[in-house]
Amino acid sequence: MLILGINAYHGDVAAVLLHDGALVAAIEEERFRRVKHWAGFPEQAIQECLRIAGASPADIDRVAVSRNPRAHLWRKAMFAVRNRPDPRLLADRARNAFNVTRLYTRLSESLALPVDHVRRRIDFVEHHPAHLASSFFASPFEEAAVCAIDGFGDFVSTSSASGAGSRLRVSDRVFFPHSLGLLYLAITQFLGFSRYGDEFKVMGLAPYGEPIFADRIRQLVHVDEDGEVRLNLPYFSHWSQGVAMTWDDGEPSIGPVFTPLLETLLGPARQRDDALDARHEAMAASLQLVHEECVFRVLRALHRRTRQSRLCLAGGCAMNSVANGKVRAQTPFSEVYIQPASGDNGTALGAALHSWHARGGRREFVMTHGYWGPEFDNDEIARDIHGVDTAGRVARQRIDDEETLCQWTAERIADGKVVGWFQGRMEWGARALGNRSIVADPRRADMRDIINTRIKFREKFRPFAPSIAVEALDEYFVDAVPDPFMIQVYPVRPDKREVIPAVTHVDGSGRLQTVSRESNPRYWCLIEAFRALTGVPVLLNTSFNENEPIVHRPAEALDCFLRTNMDVLVMGNHVLEKLSN
Ligand SMILES: [Fe+2]
Repeated sequence: MLILGINAYHGDVAAVLLHDGALVAAIEEERFRRVKHWAGFPEQAIQECLRIAGASPADIDRVAVSRNPRAHLWRKAMFAVRNRPDPRLLADRARNAFNVTRLYTRLSESLALPVDHVRRRIDFVEHHPAHLASSFFASPFEEAAVCAIDGFGDFVSTSSASGAGSRLRVSDRVFFPHSLGLLYLAITQFLGFSRYGDEFKVMGLAPYGEPIFADRIRQLVHVDEDGEVRLNLPYFSHWSQGVAMTWDDGEPSIGPVFTPLLETLLGPARQRDDALDARHEAMAASLQLVHEECVFRVLRALHRRTRQSRLCLAGGCAMNSVANGKVRAQTPFSEVYIQPASGDNGTALGAALHSWHARGGRREFVMTHGYWGPEFDNDEIARDIHGVDTAGRVARQRIDDEETLCQWTAERIADGKVVGWFQGRMEWGARALGNRSIVADPRRADMRDIINTRIKFREKFRPFAPSIAVEALDEYFVDAVPDPFMIQVYPVRPDKREVIPAVTHVDGSGRLQTVSRESNPRYWCLIEAFRALTGVPVLLNTSFNENEPIVHRPAEALDCFLRTNMDVLVMGNHVLEKLSN
């Protein structure tokens, strides 16, 4: 059975394809459109999934969509009656409502199949069950507690469940307008980070400050012993006034969700171009602290109900890698699974897995790596390289022996060069995991500034992450567990912080990715070659891009390499080195 899963008309739209319950391909539309978090319809991601599977649209048995416009209708109506929201809110809601007719039409056009054919095959999977399914059904756990925390989806912001085999039983939900994701969004906006998905910047800023505003931020939210979340609503506008949102054909955007009252509590809001100062750092630290307190309270309540030792997390808040790394220490859960696309992109996967298991499918698939996108062979790469005029600027060669290729590259990294590393299948999820990565020497403290000023042009406070050979994890990190998806932050051992300063954040932590020979042989080989040269089994790994979605095709990697001050580009077996650097 072939199941197409899609997240459509939302942020981070994506498509995945399951064959008999096993994942074949998973891709975000932003990589094709070259606009971050692309919202709309995942047209090209669908086509690429089919191409990878060697399937035609007529082969698709089910189309699972990670929205259910009929979910919680009664509750939505009651909310409107009780709260009499501003007509602008109702107008916004109507404008952004999920339009089923439009979805049928668009799918029918995209797949070149009659509307009726498509309509008969669609499963609408509510947003939160899709989040839950994306984690539990991809996890190695036969039984687990499962939790999804986000802004909102289908009127829900937090859901807790028990997973066993092919069953997922939702036990608790937090409904609109209460939401931990929305609290994080509000303070992120308050701090002047107004673009969709900017929350991770606030998380990166937090370790620079002291949480002196924690008591004030605690006034905005309450989580009780049962994990019930309550926002102090007068500080928020999303439930009473219109919030400008766009979800179609472009970068998604969400207008301010806080009211002027928030400034009476926290002082003046920062404007986007204002300098960041100690007050903003303290506010970020306070938000992160309170967010963690709230999340751990929700998780402890879930543990009391389920008595499971294993936990699967999903939802936008499961992208908070700092909180994720503390779950085992702060809650009774001893094992945690989070797949790499835990944001709304992952609901495409969850919808498909949900649909498969609802039809009695077997549980055999476990997501152990994140490489589910397109790949390009050496001939395709060569064609793109030959199509670009690099005469006099770049030396090219092809190195077919993998060990020699890794040795050649490791020598340049150890020599301080910044290397674009483009290999195999593109990553699923927001993190580059060694297939569309920029890699560099983590031992050089100045490497952050070098990459920031020469290539990435991003905020200086944001940390860079380490890829580490899984065998060396305990040698470098405190109480960490292997994580191939770079979604948990752990303390770097104090004696190693000076060894890898470029990937150690200001608080001594690192958002690590463990690399094993099994999950990514070529990347592991590169790290091993670097270890043989330097004694350090760690590389600085940042996504291969320059303020854009991660590069997808060789041509985009070449373009990024040539327009920035990257020194070396390794694509498949082809290596390019700038002569002037
Ligand atoms: Fe979500």
